[in-house]
Amino acid sequence: MIHKEIREKYISFFTTNPRNHKEIPSSPLIPENDPTVLFITAGMHPLVPYLMGEPHPLGKRLVNIQKSFRTDDIEEVGDHSHFTFFEMLGNWSLGDYFKKEAIEWSFDFLTSKDWLFYDPKKIYVSVFEGDRDAPRDEDSIRVWKEVYKNAGITAEIGDSKKGVSGNSRIFPYPKTKNWWGPAGTTGPCGPDSEMFYDTELPLHKKELYGPVCHINCDCGRYIEVWNDVFMEFNKNADGTYEPLKQKNVDTGMGMERVTALTSWLRKAIPEPDPFLTDLFGKSRYFIQQISNKDYEEPFKKSIRIILDHVRAVTFLIADGAEPGNKERGYVTRRLIRRAIRHGQILGIHVDFMSDTAGQIISNYREIYPEVKNKEEIIKSILSTEEVNFRKLLKKGLDFIEKQASLNGKIAFDLYQSFGFPPELTFEIAKERGIEMDRKTYEEEFAKHQEKSRTATKGVFKGGLQDHSEETKKLHTATHLLQKALVDVLGRHVRQKGSHITAERLRFDFSHDRKMTGEEIEKTEELVNRKIRENLAVTKETVKIEDALKSGALTVPGVKYPEKVTVYKMGNFSREVCGGPHVDFTGSLGKFKIIKEEAAGNLNRRIYAILSKT
Ligand code: ALA
Repeated sequence: MIHKEIREKYISFFTTNPRNHKEIPSSPLIPENDPTVLFITAGMHPLVPYLMGEPHPLGKRLVNIQKSFRTDDIEEVGDHSHFTFFEMLGNWSLGDYFKKEAIEWSFDFLTSKDWLFYDPKKIYVSVFEGDRDAPRDEDSIRVWKEVYKNAGITAEIGDSKKGVSGNSRIFPYPKTKNWWGPAGTTGPCGPDSEMFYDTELPLHKKELYGPVCHINCDCGRYIEVWNDVFMEFNKNADGTYEPLKQKNVDTGMGMERVTALTSWLRKAIPEPDPFLTDLFGKSRYFIQQISNKDYEEPFKKSIRIILDHVRAVTFLIADGAEPGNKERGYVTRRLIRRAIRHGQILGIHVDFMSDTAGQIISNYREIYPEVKNKEEIIKSILSTEEVNFRKLLKKGLDFIEKQASLNGKIAFDLYQSFGFPPELTFEIAKERGIEMDRKTYEEEFAKHQEKSRTATKGVFKGGLQDHSEETKKLHTATHLLQKALVDVLGRHVRQKGSHITAERLRFDFSHDRKMTGEEIEKTEELVNRKIRENLAVTKETVKIEDALKSGALTVPGVKYPEKVTVYKMGNFSREVCGGPHVDFTGSLGKFKIIKEEAAGNLNRRIYAILSKT
């Protein structure tokens, strides 16, 4: 399996001498204690506190493969290079090495015989061209020239507007292309340098190389394989940039692209198309078989969308984003429905989601035990969703039958009242030879979108880990609450989820009965007593076994690195956690539980606030 070999090579390259990185596990797709984003969108996301200067228990050099999920490119999924769920291979320097080592190692990993063994002459790079916030990245240019020279290649700076010619290999681009982060509105960011491989193939667009084709062109000739980000700035809320306490490196190599390129170069697949690689195992054949369609136009796009979406929802559900009508759950539901719709385009009219997920799971079971452990739950959730969505489709069709005519307004009403996909209404109309007016539909839709955009703004595009004082206090209160619940309800209580906004905390925990009024009061009293005692909040770095032995609370199902940070609040609470917290519990004010409700069959959910005493 080529993807397995790449995983092993990458980790082995960075953990061995002289690179000496420590491997850390992938965090779950759902961020812990981050009020502002729904999903982990890049490998650096769970590491933000450490990029900002907090010491990491495993030191200054880290490496991992992080599960990531982005909705920004959802419209693009279906081509050869876009995904919602993907994995990112990343190595980090937390105030340790910088551009020289990062670039040299990237080039070495890509081109050395012992590693990926790509032809160095096929590699082109981009660098930041400079603007009023930061100068042109001369350091990276110098390092790249040196690196190429050592490989016997003359590399000059090129002009992307003039295309690629002669010895030009290093291309400066503006911020839109060569600046990474912050992942939200504020946080760590900096110039980056990307590496591209020249496949000399036009992949998904007709127009050939021409004078305007450049390394960042969308024609598909150049495949972007790796991004080295030099995170040395913090973007403030007012849009200004200030130097970070330390200079960091954050690199990201997309698992899907590097596997596609490597597989193609080894002639294991006919094109560098990630959907042809062993990352998707037998799931593609399965879809082809049940639809009786070849992986060719015009069906390629739908097959890819199904594979991407089923893989994404499998991982989303495994990490707790079960389908629902709000936030994360809604994202999962939309992907499920979209996959079913594309199943229809392929002519699949039987339930296929759960079996497709089974194929995906069998391919990832050894790498991500969470998908294996939740296999039955994932499959049963997908079956239920599929049955319900097919009913909805039927309802929509019945509604359509009752109409005297089909028009844009009806498409919108159907969408609005049942969530019936408008494309389907249009398709049905077309089958019946009815010309439907898209304009009315689009007008109605535009009005609606305006409204929903305002409602979801900030959720998708928010800043990273909010380090505001309010959030920190609520985070500290969450630790006190968890320990109080253990004391009041029993040792079976464990964290199942935590979500903090500037106004309140939300805490999910294992407990299968409604809490009584008395239990709620006792819990509140205990937390408030610990606040009044003004306990010092301290932290220490210890081996995970020692943390567990000392009774520190952990989140079930989360894979922890070998060394972890334990936050202690006096002698009351001990939890494995990345912080941040306030220094003394006395600053929290008054703790109050405002709601206690069920969160599924086995868990309860508490909403609580802090107010000034
Ligand atoms: N954080 C960088 C990226 O996602 C490496 O491209």
